[in-house]
Amino acid sequence: MTKPRGEFGSRLGFILAAAGSAVGLGNIWGFPTQAASNGGAAFVLVYLILAFLLAYPVLMAELLIGRHAHGNAVTALTRIASSPISKAIGASTGLMGIVVASLILSFYAIVAGWMLGFTVSYPLNAAGITGVGQWLTAFSAERNVALMVIFMGMTAGIVMAGVHNGIERWSTRLMPSLIVTLVLLALYVLTLDGAMTGLKVYLLPDFSKVLSGDLILAALGSAFFSLSLGVGTMLIYGSYLSDKEDLPSTGAQVALIDVGIAILAGFLIMPSMYVAAERGVEIFDASGALLSEDTLIFTVLPALFDTLGGIGILIATAFFFLMSVAALTSSISMLEVPVAFLVERFGWTRRRSALMAGTGIALISTIVIMNFDALFGLVIAVTTRFGQPLGGLLMCVYAGWIWQRNSLLGELRKSNPDAANTFFWRVWPLYVRVVCPVIIGVIFVRSVL
Ligand code: PHE
Repeated sequence: MTKPRGEFGSRLGFILAAAGSAVGLGNIWGFPTQAASNGGAAFVLVYLILAFLLAYPVLMAELLIGRHAHGNAVTALTRIASSPISKAIGASTGLMGIVVASLILSFYAIVAGWMLGFTVSYPLNAAGITGVGQWLTAFSAERNVALMVIFMGMTAGIVMAGVHNGIERWSTRLMPSLIVTLVLLALYVLTLDGAMTGLKVYLLPDFSKVLSGDLILAALGSAFFSLSLGVGTMLIYGSYLSDKEDLPSTGAQVALIDVGIAILAGFLIMPSMYVAAERGVEIFDASGALLSEDTLIFTVLPALFDTLGGIGILIATAFFFLMSVAALTSSISMLEVPVAFLVERFGWTRRRSALMAGTGIALISTIVIMNFDALFGLVIAVTTRFGQPLGGLLMCVYAGWIWQRNSLLGELRKSNPDAANTFFWRVWPLYVRVVCPVIIGVIFVRSVL
């Protein structure tokens, strides 16, 4: 506990790392088709509002709690509580976050491994090494385990190097390359026949679709997953942030980048789908909805890339590289949750903690792979539909009800002496006390039923 803690070296480094955590597979394979099927630009607008009205306050709760304690979630939630009972619940909330973050990583690493496999399969096939190339893209337990282990190794390797030399350094390298790749790919695809139809479907606003309660709740759920909330990732990243930085504006920038990249991804995904349709690829499922998620990424888009000729190899490699990068900057933030706890609670070295946590989670992934049909969907549902909302709810309760107001204001004053007179301070406390818990509670009850 007495060892000096890691710290982000700069504000930009923190923003890129936190945005790296937020921007992940969900932004690219979920958001664009969700928007297109549910009112286009109208959905984008509602999503933007919800992200700021409801997900951003929870993000701020995590960042503030983490920075205040400069410690892992268990320590932090215990420290802001004063009674033995609230301390015990705080510690349990932190522990639950560690378990949920690890379980999210256990399925995320499997999917991310597929991304790695597809990335290298294209150059391999082009070089005539088609046996390996095909093995990497065909579903098998051996391939799933091998690629998952490689991806976990990359994740653990970065986390081992530390907050500044690992997480921050790699996020500042990878995030710009992600944005550049995304923009270049979108520009290219927009020149192809059919692209404009896709853009129209993506953006044409239809407000009648957006005003459904179900849809708003679904959008909220994805905003929550997308901002990495409820499991302590943002809390731990906040704990490595210097007291000088103004949290409300830094957090807003992270949320803006996350939503901005989701919207930008639509400019690649939707045109691509309609270019594919123009070339005879099926882009709708039996019920007439746009194909999405894994089918979109591993079936529809590869079919499109195959029709592009020589440049298709380059485009496909760049696309799967983009997906791998998005996954890696998210997975390091997930692994950091158990690692920070092991380092701070048991005094283990970062190396040993990352090795042990990485190995443990890889074992869980292996069990999931061996029982794929029974476990894969189950782990996703349990963690994202129950674990994250419950964790987010408890974070709000701790920030809004348990943490003393003066101490909370003191945390904000560290970077802004005038914090008591800001718009943030006038509005946010009410949000975390009442609005967020009620809405998250509604989502949670609906998920359970
Ligand atoms: N935000 C990541 C994504 O959109 C997922 C994530 C969830 C990351 C929870 C960390 C913690 O893919």
